[in-house]
Amino acid sequence: MQFNRRGFLRSASLLAGLSLTEMEAMAALQQVSTGGKPVADDDETYWQNVRQLFPLTREWAYLNNGTMGPSPYPVIEAVRNGMMDGDHHGGYGGWENTAKKLAAFVGADENEIALTHNVTDGINITCWGVPLRRGDEVILTTHEHVGNAFPWLNRRKLHGIVIKTFTPAATAVETLERIEALITNRTRAIAVPHIPCTQGQVLPAKEICTLARERGIYSIIDGAHGPGMLMLDLHDMGCDTYASCCHKWMLGPKGTGFLYVRKGFQNTLQTYFVGGGSDDGKWNMALETPKMGKYADSAHRYYGGTQALGLYKGVDAAIDFINTIGMQNIHNRIQMLGGYTQQRLLLLGDRVELITPTEARSRCAVNGFRIQGVDYAKFYTQCAENKIRIRMVAENGLNSLRVSTHIYNTTAEVDMLIAQVKKALG
Ligand SMILES: Cc1ncc(COP(=O)(O)O)c(C=O)c1O
Repeated sequence: MQFNRRGFLRSASLLAGLSLTEMEAMAALQQVSTGGKPVADDDETYWQNVRQLFPLTREWAYLNNGTMGPSPYPVIEAVRNGMMDGDHHGGYGGWENTAKKLAAFVGADENEIALTHNVTDGINITCWGVPLRRGDEVILTTHEHVGNAFPWLNRRKLHGIVIKTFTPAATAVETLERIEALITNRTRAIAVPHIPCTQGQVLPAKEICTLARERGIYSIIDGAHGPGMLMLDLHDMGCDTYASCCHKWMLGPKGTGFLYVRKGFQNTLQTYFVGGGSDDGKWNMALETPKMGKYADSAHRYYGGTQALGLYKGVDAAIDFINTIGMQNIHNRIQMLGGYTQQRLLLLGDRVELITPTEARSRCAVNGFRIQGVDYAKFYTQCAENKIRIRMVAENGLNSLRVSTHIYNTTAEVDMLIAQVKKALG
């Protein structure tokens, strides 16, 4: 795909990180529109044009999208304009459209999407809403992020549930076998990440949900890394809930997220946090016996009150941005970069341990590794000193490193990391 440089009237400003007008951002976006056509995952001319749309500094190799996905200009502009919408006319509301857009993006219905602020919100709503008694068992992994671990640990502390864990295996089949081996007649929920934050392994979510359904167990997925990385179809996956955010792989505004709750599960998952919008409008406090009415007949029952219109306009723009490039093109590009990272790490010999599976269906854009004889924190600092941003994985005693690559990255940036690993190996 060819790039017409005249479209970038202010490419110098882009590189300097200055703001674009909405029109300029839209014009620049049109330059990378694929019109639904495939783009090769190694078409560097095309992907460099995409890179121009990010104010992300070029002074660093940012290989940590798994923590935070930097937004492109059209998203940043949409946030500003969304705020202007409300602040200029004094209007209220307007964020409901985002639930509809998110639903289409992840293969759900509009009435199955609750707007949240992050993954943690969605996990807490689910964890507290699932009917569990003392002694009931929930299955998690040994690779949890605090956002999925702590709510369940807290429920164990307060309500006496039992947590069982497994370590994701090198293949999807073996991972499923490990889960199945933990199921007893007290198992009520499988509450696992689609992609653990630690080493980015893609778990066989559809098979896990099928297994759960067959055994009468709730399937509760921590989907922090799914949308924007994988081709998602939540109806096809068959999960009961999927908690996610828009600020990682979707490249949306920070502090935006969503919780998918399957329609047929909404009367099972109790809502506790309610207010304006989570009701049916029939409450009345002026009656002799104040009347409650019902919960909203949708996932709106899980959230209420005023939302940040600007941020949700940014989420709309993030979905438009992804669709302009094409989710399949994005998936292919980041899977290629993830595969390239694996190959390069594997070439470094026995002292470098790749801890992400190489099985095609179990990997995508995130990789974890250790360097034998090299302290992970020291290596992290070495990278930072050389302007490479990766992540340390200190949680769960894993003491490893994580590298995650999105569409704005290049194989050259991966090579910069590899050069640092070589240096550390001596
Ligand atoms: C797997 C996983 N779950 C949960 C979270 C928490 O996400 P948030 O900060 O959006 O609540 C993260 C964040 O990195 C994560 O990687």
